[in-house]
Amino acid sequence: MPSSAFELRGAGMRFGDVEALAPLDLTVQAGQRVAVVGPSGAGKTTFLYLMAGIHAPTSGTVRVGGLSVRELADVRRRAAAVGIMHQQFDLVPSLAVVHNVLAGRLREWSLWRSLLSLIVPQESERAREALRRVGIEDKIFERTANLSGGEQQRVALARLLVQAPRAILADEPVSSLDPTRAEAMVRLLVEVAGTDRTLVASMHAVPLALQYFDRIVALRDGALLFDRPSRDVAPADLEALYEIDDAGPAASDGRRRDRAGGQSMVRPPEAR
Ligand SMILES: Nc1ncnc2c1ncn2[C@@H]1O[C@H](COP(=O)(O)OP(=O)(O)OP(=O)(O)O)[C@@H](O)[C@H]1O
Ligand SMILES: [Mg+2]
Repeated sequence: MPSSAFELRGAGMRFGDVEALAPLDLTVQAGQRVAVVGPSGAGKTTFLYLMAGIHAPTSGTVRVGGLSVRELADVRRRAAAVGIMHQQFDLVPSLAVVHNVLAGRLREWSLWRSLLSLIVPQESERAREALRRVGIEDKIFERTANLSGGEQQRVALARLLVQAPRAILADEPVSSLDPTRAEAMVRLLVEVAGTDRTLVASMHAVPLALQYFDRIVALRDGALLFDRPSRDVAPADLEALYEIDDAGPAASDGRRRDRAGGQSMVRPPEAR
C-alpha cells in the first residue's frame, strides 16, 4: 500500500468564473482520519470529488493511492482505490436493499452477471454480512425507498463495505441524522475504516469531527483556512471558520467570482 492515500499539488477547481476551490497542496497519509469542515458552499463536496477522481482538477494534480486522475478513469482501479458516500444518497429507491448493496460489487462482475443479479441477488450472503455490520440486516429485502434517511445512509455504507476500497470518502454522512444517530454513524465509519483504510469525511458537526478524527481540514470560501491535528484546533479557529462576513451569509453564491483577481474574502483569525 502506498504511504500517501491522497496527494494534491496545486489542485484547484473552477466552474466557469466561479472558483469552487482555490489551488491547494495537501497530502493525506494512508490510514489517516481527516474531517473536512466549513460553512455551506465552502467547497467541501468539490474537495471530496477531486479526491474521488470524480472531478478532474482545473489546475494542478491529484493522485489517489499513487494513481493519477487519468489512471483512475479505469473503473476497477478507481473502485479498488476509493469509494464515496455521497451527500445525497445515490441509491436506487425502487430496488430492494440487497441490490443496492451489491452494486458495490459491479466492478467485479460481467454485464451478464450484473443483469442477472437484478433477478437473483448474487452473493446475497456478502450483502447480508455488510448489512449486519451496519446494523440493518433485517432490511435486506426491504424496498430501499421505505427506509429512513439514516437507514439509507447505512445501506450506502454497506455498499462501500462490499466494494472494499482502500480509502473511504464520506460527504456529510451525518447531516440528516439526530445527534445520537449522528454519533453512531461516525463511530461506524471510523470502525469500518479500521486502522488500514483512509477515511476523509466532510461534516458540519464540528464536535464529532474533533472527537473522532485525527486531523481537521477547514475550508472557507473555497480556500484552505487551516489544516492541523484535531488536538491543536482552538475555539477561536472555529469562530473564524463559521463567522458570517460582511459579504453576506456563507451560503450565498457568486462571492468567489472576484477571487480570480487574487483577493480572498477569508479573514484570518487575528484580523477579527
Ligand atoms: N457543478 C458545479 N457547477 C457550478 N458551480 C458549482 C458546481 N459544484 C459546486 N459549485 C459551486 O462551488 C462552490 C462550492 O460548492 P460545494 O458543493 O463544494 O460546497 P460545500 O462546502 O460542499 O457546501 P454544502 O455544505 O452546502 O454541501 C459553491 O459556490 C457551488 O455553487
Ligand atoms: Mg457539500
